Amino acid sequence: MTIESLLASSQVRKVIRGASDWVDLQWSVIIDLLKRVAPQARGRLLDVGCGTRPYEQIFLPFVTEYLGVENEGTFSATAASLDSRKPDLVYSGDRLPFEDRSFDTVLNVQVLEHTPRPGALINEMSRVLKDDGILILSAPFQFRLHEQPHDYFRYSPHGLGVLFADAGLEITEVLSHGGLWRVIGHKLNTYLALRVAKVAGMAQGMGKLSHETATSEKARVWTLPFVGPAMIGIAGAARLMDRLAPEPEETLGFVVLARRAGTTSRGPT
Ligand SMILES: C[S@@+](CC[C@H](N)C(=O)[O-])C[C@H]1O[C@@H](n2cnc3c(N)ncnc32)[C@H](O)[C@@H]1O
Repeated sequence: MTIESLLASSQVRKVIRGASDWVDLQWSVIIDLLKRVAPQARGRLLDVGCGTRPYEQIFLPFVTEYLGVENEGTFSATAASLDSRKPDLVYSGDRLPFEDRSFDTVLNVQVLEHTPRPGALINEMSRVLKDDGILILSAPFQFRLHEQPHDYFRYSPHGLGVLFADAGLEITEVLSHGGLWRVIGHKLNTYLALRVAKVAGMAQGMGKLSHETATSEKARVWTLPFVGPAMIGIAGAARLMDRLAPEPEETLGFVVLARRAGTTSRGPT
């Protein structure tokens, strides 16, 4: 039986996708954090840079409408543009194609590093956000180069605070994408998966790595019996060590919540 025929079974794909999500230390922490903050979303939600809409089901129970929008220039270069889960709208230029103050919730996940003018995008998200609305943003602090050449910046919560203040917003909550051990584990597992086992093409076949350029590179299947257990061990150890020896000055990134300045008395946590 070949790896392709194994993957053709939906049950096997489901199990492999579940396992790969668990060992993907960045994906799993972002999903956990978004599930934690989703109850604060409400009304009309705009997902800016929605890609393959992976967070739609997390937010749908809390909002009346989910709208996913993408930018033509960057989106067309990714494998996500070939996926069946499409954005509702693809725009070009710097202006989001919506009226001022038309959304209660704006979601922006791992997008800000891909725009050469992040301040302009935050200004636009602030413009379309209602006065009592909430902006939920996730951005990387440490992550390998990806989606090249559209990979421009990494962010600290303080830098985000400055960009948000310039757009009339203030940060009300900051949540880290884990600590030191998750950073180390994620980098080791990325090396094993992409350089040793070369599973980028296989991962895209399962709907992962859709933000990268499409690849049909063949996996080194013979490495999987070694690489698979090693990645599971590294992911388990990283999760445990992050609990036992937290080191918050190292992290993969941040989820921040922000509201219009002056509409809340809470400061950053
Ligand atoms: C790393 S992917 C993340 C996609 C999705 N949010 C996710 O987490 O799976 C970055 C996405 O941001 C989009 N993007 C970059 N600049 C953008 C902009 N100015 N407006 C909307 N989307 C943008 C890219 O096209 C790409 O799909």
